[in-house]
Formats: sequence, C-alpha cells, structure tokens
Amino acid sequence: MQPDKNQPIGVFDSGLGGLSILRELRELLPHENFIFLADQAYVPYGEKTPAELIDRCLKIGEFLKNQDIKLMVVACNTATCYALPALRQKYALLIVGTVPAIKPASEKTKTGVIGIISTEATSKSKTLADLITAHARDKQVINIGCPNLEDTVEAGGLDSTDTNALLEKYLEPIKQSSADCLVLGCTHYPFLKPAIVQVMEREIEIIDSGEAIAKRVKTLLANNETSASEGAVKYFTTSEPDQFNNIASKLLKEKIKAKTVQI
Ligand code: DGL
Repeated sequence: MQPDKNQPIGVFDSGLGGLSILRELRELLPHENFIFLADQAYVPYGEKTPAELIDRCLKIGEFLKNQDIKLMVVACNTATCYALPALRQKYALLIVGTVPAIKPASEKTKTGVIGIISTEATSKSKTLADLITAHARDKQVINIGCPNLEDTVEAGGLDSTDTNALLEKYLEPIKQSSADCLVLGCTHYPFLKPAIVQVMEREIEIIDSGEAIAKRVKTLLANNETSASEGAVKYFTTSEPDQFNNIASKLLKEKIKAKTVQI
C-alpha cells in the first residue's frame, strides 16, 4: 500500500545529534512532515550495553509507530549498529539506519588512510568492523572511540575549552597520520565541524552520513505523492524540554519547541 503523503517520517536519536540528519532530510524533502524524538533521558547511547540499546530502540519504535509514521530513520550510528535488526524484525515499516560513511571515504581517499571518530560503542561494533572489511579492506583505518564528545553537543558547547580539549586528544593520531578523509561516525559530530577543522590544523576531507541518508529516504519514497505545502516538524524529548529547545534552536537556527514524552 502506498503511504499517505501527509503521514510523517519518524526520526530519532539519543539526543540532539539526530538534528544533523533531520536538517538534511528537510532540505531534500521540504514538503514532508516529520516527527523528531530525542531520547535525552537516556543519552549517551555510546555507553549503553547492546541489550539496553535494543530495549530503548524498541520502545521508541512503538512510540513512533503509534504516530502513524510511514518511514523510520534511525538517526544514530550507535543505535543502528546494535538495534537495527531488532527494529526491522519487530516493525513492518521502511526503516533507514545511519552507519559511518566508510564506503565513500574509501572511494575518495588518495593516501589510502582514513580516520574515523565515533562513540565508544560504535568504534567497537561488529557493524563498523564489517563495513571496514567490506569497503576498506585495503586501506588503513584509524578508528577512534570518543567517550563524552557527544555530551559537548548536548550541552551546547560547540567550541568550548572542554570540547577543544577532547577534540585535541581524539584527533591527535589522525592529525599525525597521512589520513586525507575523516569520517564523522556519530550524528552529533557534524555540529562540531568548525571546531574539528580548527583542531585538525591541516587539510582533511570531513565526511558525514547526513546527505546519503536523505537521498536514501527520497529514493524509498520516490512514488510517494508529496503535498504542495511546506512540511512541519513535531519535536519530542524524553527529558525536560527547556534544554532541548534552547540548544536545538541554536543548532538549527530557528525557534524550536518540543514536548516531553515518557517512554
Ligand atoms: N548520535 C549518536 C550516534 O550517532 C549517539 C550519541 C550518544 O548518545 O552516545 O552514534
């Protein structure tokens, strides 16, 4: 059955990082309606166990399904790495996950060396190991797990001293290498791009997954008639809304008002 043009697309992340994916989706699909959920009562996902991640994602899946979504975007690499099969098994919905852009980086690199930064959980995941085997077997991949880096975005400290200190620490091995591509394997990190550029102090191509996700969603909805009017977004957080509203408004440069939902 064809989805209805007015049915929303559900997008979720542990927190504000998913807004980097939502931004790309809205740019490419301006007539679509979206439901965005930030699971901030449980952020960071990067330090959760696989069982905890599956449990959270299935609960969020239920909430989004009840909003009558036509497609679900898991705007979180960590959740995708650990819970995508469970979500696909439970919901007969179109589900698009987010994985680190190892394939495009591998196609672009000239030096044969790629850096990737992600959450601790993603850096250790089988999904990332499989992506490297499938697409970058003949490349050198410098894989850095970055505990607490997502928290700097949650706190809105995009270029604070703490953020820069963490970036200095995590990017050092990549900076010292001949890597010419840097994969942002966490959806929070695109908001840190200006700080990353500054800390790197040298040319490197920064690659995230946002645009590819938006294109994939567009392809999946190719036959879906879209409405003529501009789409709307409903925002939800599992934590208190003031912090979300404040930082999300800054990140997206527009006034955002979220509702709290207990999941
Ligand atoms: N934004 C998420 C990701 O892409 C997870 C951040 C976190 O909660 O640790 O992995």
